[in-house]
Amino acid sequence: MPSEGGRRHPRNASLGEAQLLETQRAFDSVAADYDGPRGNNELIQRMRLTLWETVHHEVPARGHLLDLGCGTGIDALEFAQQGFQVVATDWSPQMVERTQARAIAADMQAHVTARHLGIQQLDQLDARFDGIYSNFGPLNCAPDLRAVAAECARLLKPGGKLIFSVIGRICPWEVGHYARRGRFKRASVRVTRGATAVGMNRHTIWTYYYLPREFYRAFSDHFSLESYRALSLFMPPPYLVDYYRRRRDWCERMGRLDDRLGALPVLRDMGDHFLIVMRRR
Ligand SMILES: C[S@@+](CC[C@H](N)C(=O)[O-])C[C@H]1O[C@@H](n2cnc3c(N)ncnc32)[C@H](O)[C@@H]1O
Repeated sequence: MPSEGGRRHPRNASLGEAQLLETQRAFDSVAADYDGPRGNNELIQRMRLTLWETVHHEVPARGHLLDLGCGTGIDALEFAQQGFQVVATDWSPQMVERTQARAIAADMQAHVTARHLGIQQLDQLDARFDGIYSNFGPLNCAPDLRAVAAECARLLKPGGKLIFSVIGRICPWEVGHYARRGRFKRASVRVTRGATAVGMNRHTIWTYYYLPREFYRAFSDHFSLESYRALSLFMPPPYLVDYYRRRRDWCERMGRLDDRLGALPVLRDMGDHFLIVMRRR
């Protein structure tokens, strides 16, 4: 998610309709190009694979999945093709259209249901799932995580899993990259408490940043924490793909460090994103 920090929302106020609509317009504006060469690049694909493997490990084969913030439906189609039944939801109508088109093009519309639904509107959904996943930060845009947790608990079967990839607070690559260029405000954007305005395509995404433990706190009434790990801690974050392409061998070695060390204490609290798994009690 490209970003430039700016306006802040009052710390304890949750996002209102105006901010949610700003975020919706931002994602609508990039939906057409989202799967382009920079949008779904090698670094994104690497992180995607980790979530895919985790979902396969945590959710029974051929189970029912709910995708929160599905974007253009890359994950939803992958899981449908692997035998899962997927309800794919997103707050951006343009993204939902892309997901629908992707499912139709692959003749998988019987296995992927695309719905225009914000994470803040899960009370409108009535179904039972074996697993709920969310990839690349949609939950960073949710106005009230505790409400999301309660809805996820209602929608999941007992023992069902949440598998979320969330934008973290501590990303050493990002701090180094922007600080070296003298862009100190940008380098420190993830430190902000409460929602912060992040620029994308001349629009605004209202974003909350989390440490894994503070994210889990919102879910702790209904879910036990199974595991969490860093994604892209040693490997550069996806928006530095040009750097990766210039130093591919070295970066691949960094990627192997992510695989080996990313779940260790302290290291797992850092990274561009973290991948967290929780179990419904
Ligand atoms: C960085 S994209 C990730 C998309 C997709 N999960 C993927 O892996 O490519 C973030 C997605 O979150 C969606 N989103 C943002 N705010 C949302 C909200 N409140 N409810 C549901 N989806 C939201 C956006 O429309 C966008 O599709």
